[in-house]
Amino acid sequence: MDMNTVEKLLTTTRSVRKRLDLDREVPLDAVKSCLEMAIQAPTGSNSQQWRYLVITDPEKRKAIADLYSRSFKLYAKESAAAAPKLPPTDPRSQRMMKVVTSAVYLAENLHRVPMFIITLLEGRVEKADVLAQASFYGSSLPAAWSLMMALRANGLGSAWTTLHLRYEKEAAGILGIPDHYTQTCLLPVAYFKGEDFRPAKRVPVEQLTYLDSWGEKLW
Ligand SMILES: Cc1cc2nc3c(=O)[nH]c(=O)nc-3n(C[C@H](O)[C@H](O)[C@H](O)COP(=O)(O)O)c2cc1C
Repeated sequence: MDMNTVEKLLTTTRSVRKRLDLDREVPLDAVKSCLEMAIQAPTGSNSQQWRYLVITDPEKRKAIADLYSRSFKLYAKESAAAAPKLPPTDPRSQRMMKVVTSAVYLAENLHRVPMFIITLLEGRVEKADVLAQASFYGSSLPAAWSLMMALRANGLGSAWTTLHLRYEKEAAGILGIPDHYTQTCLLPVAYFKGEDFRPAKRVPVEQLTYLDSWGEKLW
C-alpha cells in the first residue's frame, strides 16, 4: 500500500462545514462508488442490515435541516451552560470557538448543502443491553466512517452529525422510514473548497493506551 496516501486519508478526513461548496450539485453517481466501498465494512454476525437514504429533494432537505436547527439551539444552550469558564486567550477557548463557529455555520446553512446521506440499520435497541447496543451500532458506524473517507478521497466533504436524531421520529415521518429502522447518523455532503486539511491535535496515544492492566503504561 502507498502508506503516504493511507496516512493522509486517515489523518485528514475532517468534519467539513464552512468549506462545503453549497453551489455545486453532487451527481448521484459520484456517491455510488463511495457507498460500494463503505459497505465492505464489517457487521455483527455478518448481518448487513444497513440502508442508506440519499436526500437531494430541496423541500425534504429543508424539513430535516429545520429539525437539526431546532435541536442545535437546545444543544448550544446546554453546552454554553456546561462549558468551563476559560479566559478568551486560553488556547482551549480558541480551539473551542473554532468548532463552535463551524457548527453554528452548519446549523444555519444545512438546508443549502446539496446532499444528505442518512445511514440506517434495521432494528431498535433503546431497551437493549450493552452487548446488543454495541453490536447494533457497530454494524452501522464503521461503514459510515468508511463512507466519509471514501467521499473525502473523491473530493467530497462531509461532517458526522447526530443532532437531528433528537427528533428522529419526525425525520422518519418526513422521509417515510419504517418504525423498525434506526437512523444512526446524517452526513451532509458537498464538494469541498481547498485541499489543506491537516491532522487534528490529539492527546498522545502514550497517555491513552495501557498494557495488560488498567493504568499500566505501554509506552
Ligand atoms: C458521534 C458524533 C456526533 C457528532 N454530531 C455532530 C453534530 O450533530 N453536528 C456537528 O456539527 N458535528 C457533529 N460531530 C462532529 C464533531 O463535532 C467533530 O468530529 C469535532 O468537531 C472534531 O472535528 P474533526 O472531525 O475535524 O476532528 C459529531 C461527531 C461524532 C463522532
